[in-house]
Amino acid sequence: METILKTVSRSPITNKDYPIPATVNDQAGIDQFLSVHPGKKVVVVQGMGFVGSVMGLVVANAITEEYAVIGIDLPTPASWWKICSINEGVFPVLASDPKISEYYAKSREKKNYYATCDPYAYSKADVVIVDINLDVKKQTGPGHELLDYTVDLTPFKKAVESIGNNCRQDVLVLVETTVPPGTTEKVVKPLLQECLQKRGLPVDQLKVGHSYERVMPGPKYIDSIQNFYRVFAGTDAMSTEAVEKFLRTVIRTDEFPLTRLGHTNATEMAKVLENSFRAMNIAFMVEWSRFAEEASVDIYEVVNAIRMRPTHKNIMLPGLGVGGYCLTKDPLLASWARMNLFNSNDPLLQSEKGVRINDKMPLYAFEYLQSQYKDSLSGKKVLLLGVSYLNDVGDTRYTPVEGFYNQLQEAGAEISLHDPHVLYWEEKDTWVTQDLNKLLEQDYDIITITTGHKEYRSNPALMAKLQEKTPAVIYDTIGVLTNEEIKTLSDKHMVRVLGRGDLQG
Ligand SMILES: NC(=O)c1ccc[n+]([C@@H]2O[C@H](COP(=O)([O-])OP(=O)(O)OC[C@H]3O[C@@H](n4cnc5c(N)ncnc54)[C@H](O)[C@@H]3O)[C@@H](O)[C@H]2O)c1
Repeated sequence: METILKTVSRSPITNKDYPIPATVNDQAGIDQFLSVHPGKKVVVVQGMGFVGSVMGLVVANAITEEYAVIGIDLPTPASWWKICSINEGVFPVLASDPKISEYYAKSREKKNYYATCDPYAYSKADVVIVDINLDVKKQTGPGHELLDYTVDLTPFKKAVESIGNNCRQDVLVLVETTVPPGTTEKVVKPLLQECLQKRGLPVDQLKVGHSYERVMPGPKYIDSIQNFYRVFAGTDAMSTEAVEKFLRTVIRTDEFPLTRLGHTNATEMAKVLENSFRAMNIAFMVEWSRFAEEASVDIYEVVNAIRMRPTHKNIMLPGLGVGGYCLTKDPLLASWARMNLFNSNDPLLQSEKGVRINDKMPLYAFEYLQSQYKDSLSGKKVLLLGVSYLNDVGDTRYTPVEGFYNQLQEAGAEISLHDPHVLYWEEKDTWVTQDLNKLLEQDYDIITITTGHKEYRSNPALMAKLQEKTPAVIYDTIGVLTNEEIKTLSDKHMVRVLGRGDLQG
């Protein structure tokens, strides 16, 4: 049962169970797959998650080379289904990008994308791309504030060892996982060398590099990998050349030239700095949103006015909070690296503070609701529109909706959930409804827009339905409602928008 539930959270496979295999041995399956592709270079992608499975698709549909691609993941309840589903014809990632199904159909036709859990695959690889997770463990207090955090490299090192214990001596290992700066040079390369040496193999042909993903799950999923600028570096000249040669075959580098940096420490730093900048930009807006509410100013209007100035185009809008796998951890990975891999006594204080501020945003959104609703929430019916952390994507990892949901639950509210992209909310172990019309047959005390999916934006049918409802609080936590919609809804309902203060005022 557990496998089924995990499966539906990210894939439409709902009625199959995949028992974990007793052995990881899949030598026959791998050999059979490769026998259909004689002479082709073999690319093994380690980690079939949101990034790796789609990177695998891009390599299987490379621009100037025909590769045989093997995706490898772990035979765990959380991941075994991804292997099965890739081999059985249902791509494991749900997204609004039509290119995903197009590329997957092509790879099925060419039979050039196979998935397995057997590390034997590494022995066949010309290139291994590391796309696994590297997590930050956060300790949080009762108000969701960040108390402390730890980075444990052990699972990542084990993954690198599984490559080193099986790979060819002349393999190219390209790290794409977001790692603490310093990891490729100080951890990955020495570990691979040690493994080769233990196997009695020379280390002078081994190539190791780093190039980070700027993948944006959503309508431009594939393009964000294949038709986008890439930064890369190698740990030596031979590695740098090999990484560049490989990337040129899979990425449209004629239109999106590669950026070569001088060291893998630099590419690793570029990745976490990019994400820390974004996280800080959001954290910066938090206090301004509060100020705007107090001053009855519409912060969205203000930000859009500022954005007209070319130098200020990327100032962020406020919202329910920061979610997803990357912005919530990458500033911490960077700060940890500074202290643990480069022996500094100082953390990256501002970046850490940014995470602390962002982590508390859902709590504030809840407190603001309480300050406006005034009545007890116990037994009140609350509808949440959207549980995913990002619009038009079915990814609930670290979604800020979770903190908000937890607060509502603690207050005793009766919560209904809608999300067009999420069938099952894995982290909360609960089902999510896709039929909005059905949900809106009922009345609610509070209807909250928690994710900016396109289904909730400028949707006249939704507006008409909301107008039919008995008076409720309509709470827009991310500024989806237009001024006109707010005006129309306000005839009947009490409308509140985070960052806009008293709309009636
Ligand atoms: N999701 C994004 O939007 C995004 C964007 C850019 C970069 N990244 C980075 O890409 C990396 C992967 O992120 P993701 O979102 O795909 O994570 P994910 O959790 O969806 O996928 C990681 C996968 O790696 C597998 N894995 C872990 N250890 C393994 C091992 N030893 N062997 C084989 N497989 C193993 C896990 O089972 C899982 O399926 C992270 O470093 C992340 O920070 C993510």
